[in-house]
Amino acid sequence: MIVTLVVAVAENGVIGLDGGMPWRLPTDLKRFKERTMGKPILMGRKTWEGLPRKPLPGRQNIVITRDIDYQAEGASVAHSFEDAIEQAEHSGASKVSVIGGGQIYEQAISFANRLDVTHVLAEIEGDTSFPTIDPAIWKEIARHDIPASEEDSHATRHVIYERITTGAGI
Ligand SMILES: NC(=O)c1ccc[n+]([C@@H]2O[C@H](COP(=O)([O-])OP(=O)(O)OC[C@H]3O[C@@H](n4cnc5c(N)ncnc54)[C@H](OP(=O)(O)O)[C@@H]3O)[C@@H](O)[C@H]2O)c1
Repeated sequence: MIVTLVVAVAENGVIGLDGGMPWRLPTDLKRFKERTMGKPILMGRKTWEGLPRKPLPGRQNIVITRDIDYQAEGASVAHSFEDAIEQAEHSGASKVSVIGGGQIYEQAISFANRLDVTHVLAEIEGDTSFPTIDPAIWKEIARHDIPASEEDSHATRHVIYERITTGAGI
């Protein structure tokens, strides 16, 4: 299974504030949709609950929670990251995107093969962070600067990282 973490992260590591995102980036949301379409997306229960529209269409939505009674309309529910991967495998997928939030990225990064990162080019106040991207583990393989459109609050840089070290995968 190829595991990709898809994230937008500020220069100081921030990814979220008060259950939402501390920026407005419609250009990046379009790109997020293109990059994740057709593959299962794995997310923590808090990220699921923060989605303005759920499930995200065209993708198997898998919500991770420790609550065994949790119901997520239009989504599958998993009780660990490994359980979520198994559910994706059972549906025939060979690639998944992990779409947050902080707790799930923290656990999933050690299984990930690839990071699909939108660097938000600012330091931003928040309460949720992405783990440090260690250059001894992650090699940048593509980079693209994206100026802010009229609707975007910030300019961004899109970077794909691939794992250098072995031992990834699940
Ligand atoms: N910038 C970005 O790209 C991006 C992307 C996604 C989210 N975000 C932001 O990140 C924030 C949410 O992140 P968060 O860290 O607070 O929450 P989260 O990772 O979305 O969800 C946390 C929840 O996941 C469940 N969970 C975590 N580890 C688990 C495990 N090992 N087994 C089973 N369930 C587990 C628990 O649910 P239960 O409590 O139900 O057991 C936990 O409360 C929001 O501000 C959101 O907007 C940003």
